[in-house]
Parts: sequence; structure tokens; C-alpha cells
Amino acid sequence: MINKTGLENDIKYVLLSEKQIEARVNELGEQLSREYAGKNPLFVCILRGAVHFFSDLTRRFTDYMEMDFMATSSYGSGTVSHGIVRIKKDLDTPIEGRHVIIVEDIMDSGNTLNYLTRLLGTRNPASIKIVCLLDKPSRRECEITPDYCGFAVPDEFVVGYGLDYADAYRNLPYIGVLKEEVYSKTE
Ligand code: IMP
Ligand code: MG
Repeated sequence: MINKTGLENDIKYVLLSEKQIEARVNELGEQLSREYAGKNPLFVCILRGAVHFFSDLTRRFTDYMEMDFMATSSYGSGTVSHGIVRIKKDLDTPIEGRHVIIVEDIMDSGNTLNYLTRLLGTRNPASIKIVCLLDKPSRRECEITPDYCGFAVPDEFVVGYGLDYADAYRNLPYIGVLKEEVYSKTE
């Protein structure tokens, strides 16, 4: 059982506070409400990292909408993604003719979202856009950018507010930089 003090001891510094995240998520929700009014968009949560972001963002959307969930994984564990994407859970909703908004925690190499937008694009949606809470543009391996982005972040491994390392830290209410010694021990 992990105790809260131990958990917080693993954080080098807080990059984005609860207040900063809340303010930005509210802005994104207002923007999407304006741009998707009357379109009944399908918000797609990419499990598990986007869970808090998805929940907060969709509650700021003010018109009709629907939700669905997908789970992906890149092979391997640790702090570096590997480019090969596997679908662990697909959508339950047909998306032909729908306006799809993919909600993801972070765009790093871009491989996950590059793969997902291509895959969903073959199902003939009316549109697909990507909303990422965080963007690490310095590490991009393919030509893709989020259509909506909460914050650009430096090339540091971050956890909290849904983002994990080895499935821990998702419950931190803020986003922090993980101390290197936490992952250098296991990699
Ligand atoms: P990409 O395919 O390289 O863009 O990686 C996207 C996935 O890698 C994200 O959905 C996260 O699960 C994970 N990821 C990338 N950078 C971080 C990070 O700094 N902290 C936690 N997870 C990360
Ligand atoms: Mg993820």
C-alpha cells in the first residue's frame, strides 16, 4: 500500500498546480462548446491517462454530446514509448458521419495519436480532432500536432492528474516532474 507522503516524496517539483489545470481545462471546455455547438460530438477518452482530463473537460461542454472509451498501449514499459501501438479496447460506437474529439493526456512522440487518427479516419467520420492536455513537441517522431492543447511541457517525465509511471501516481491532483531516481532504479 502506497502512502500519500511517500507518493509525494517521489515528485521533483510541481509543474502544473490544480488551479492552473482547472483554469485551462475550463477554457478548453468553453472553446469546444462554441466550436461544436449543435454537432453532437463524440468525445473519445483514451484510457487510462486521460481519465481526469476527460471527466473535467466534458463537464464543461454545454451542448449535447456522447462519450466513448478506447484503450491503447505501446509495447514495452518504462518512460520511453516505442512506436508500436496496440488497441486494447476499441470504440463501441459507430463513428461514420460523426464529429469525433479524441481526448488524450499527452502527445510525446506522436505515434499513438498518429496511429489512432489514421485508424478512426478509415471509418468515415465527419471530422476528427485531437485534444491533448499536454504536449511535448521536442520529442515528436511524426508530423502531428494536437488541434487543442492545454499546455506545452518540457522534455521531462511527468505524472499526476491521470498520468502514470508504472501505473502509479495517477491519483495526484496536480502534474509533477518525477524524480529521476524513481525510474532509473527500475529501467
Ligand atoms: P506517444 O505515442 O509517444 O505520443 O506517447 C503517448 C503516451 O505515452 C501517452 O498517452 C502517455 O501514456 C505516455 N507518456 C508520454 N510521455 C509521458 C510522461 O511524461 N508521463 C507519463 N506518460 C507519458
Ligand atoms: Mg496514455
